[in-house]
Amino acid sequence: MKHLVTLIPGDGIGPEVSEAVQQIIEAAGVSIDWEPTAARGDLERRNVDFMHSGVVEAIRKSRVALKGPLTTSVAFGPPSINVGLRKALDLFANVRPVKNLLGVKSRFQNVDMVLIRENTEDLYAGLEHEVVPGVVESLKIITEKASTRIARFAFEYARKYGRKKIHGIHKANIMKMSDGLFLTSIRKVAAEYPDIEYKELIIDNACMQMVLNPNQFDMLLLTNLYGDIMSDLAAGLVGGLGVVPSANVGEDVAIFEAVHGTAPDIAGKGIANPTALLMSAILMLVYIGEPKAAHRIECALHKVYLEGKSLTRDVGGTATTKEFTEAVIRTLDK
Ligand code: NAI
Repeated sequence: MKHLVTLIPGDGIGPEVSEAVQQIIEAAGVSIDWEPTAARGDLERRNVDFMHSGVVEAIRKSRVALKGPLTTSVAFGPPSINVGLRKALDLFANVRPVKNLLGVKSRFQNVDMVLIRENTEDLYAGLEHEVVPGVVESLKIITEKASTRIARFAFEYARKYGRKKIHGIHKANIMKMSDGLFLTSIRKVAAEYPDIEYKELIIDNACMQMVLNPNQFDMLLLTNLYGDIMSDLAAGLVGGLGVVPSANVGEDVAIFEAVHGTAPDIAGKGIANPTALLMSAILMLVYIGEPKAAHRIECALHKVYLEGKSLTRDVGGTATTKEFTEAVIRTLDK
């Protein structure tokens, strides 16, 4: 079966790591009709905004996209495209599995958890305004509808993937109404899933527990901002953003993306590490119904890391992107 997948190669190292991932997927025998979006540079020259370049419509049609990193300006400039895509396609769940990759040095071993982050509201609603000069207000939006939806997604995910325990993370001792509503919404859903253990932790304690003993966590369920911060913290425990995948999932659309940035310092040098995008692509292959190919690629990736001879510089090796990619492809059938 041939799958249609929208490809957003992204900026900086994005096109280099996307090409590597496409080659590995093709070598694993999965037939994908990649539909690439227009390059950002071309659009800028034509004065066309990326969000209005047909990308949303293309993903609605294909229902699945693989995305490289995109440049976002800080403080001023247009809103983040990453956030824009999540909103436009209602990708309400951010899924971040965090697991040790054998061969990658990290502070902890046997970490295996999934963070589920509500993706559409909270302080990311982008509702900021100046009250009077020198005073700005940013609104934290929490609704029962979105909180219930993400809770149900998390409990269903737990059942589907054999996870046993979910921690709801909050600061409801201070934000009694907003985080309070998030918690009460989760508790109602949790009552319908007696087979999944449900616990709660205040965010500051959760961060400390995470760096002391991450092995105690199975799944974490968080609002948007806490989820953003804690998922990077969790990634740091297993080697950083270069070795963890990410998925943004809606009712029937999903975007799989690397969580690192465009790495402008190494762009174009042929030394970028495609591992994070490849791991996101592995999640994508499971999503589109290619679990066997996903497993083959995952095994090959682990073997290449364990062997340690073809790793890129960011993880202590000397290999180029091409050499790493060829090593994964060679290892597919070993
Ligand atoms: P960054 O992740 O691009 O770079 C941080 C450091 O990690 C750099 O030294 C870089 O060389 C290294 N690095 C990142 N990915 C790598 C890879 N695959 N292989 C080898 N080394 C890698 O973060 P930074 O510098 O804060 O952001 C640069 C740009 O990326 C900004 O415009 C930012 O807005 C954007 N960005 C986009 C994201 C996305 O589209 N999901 C996420 C984070 C940042």
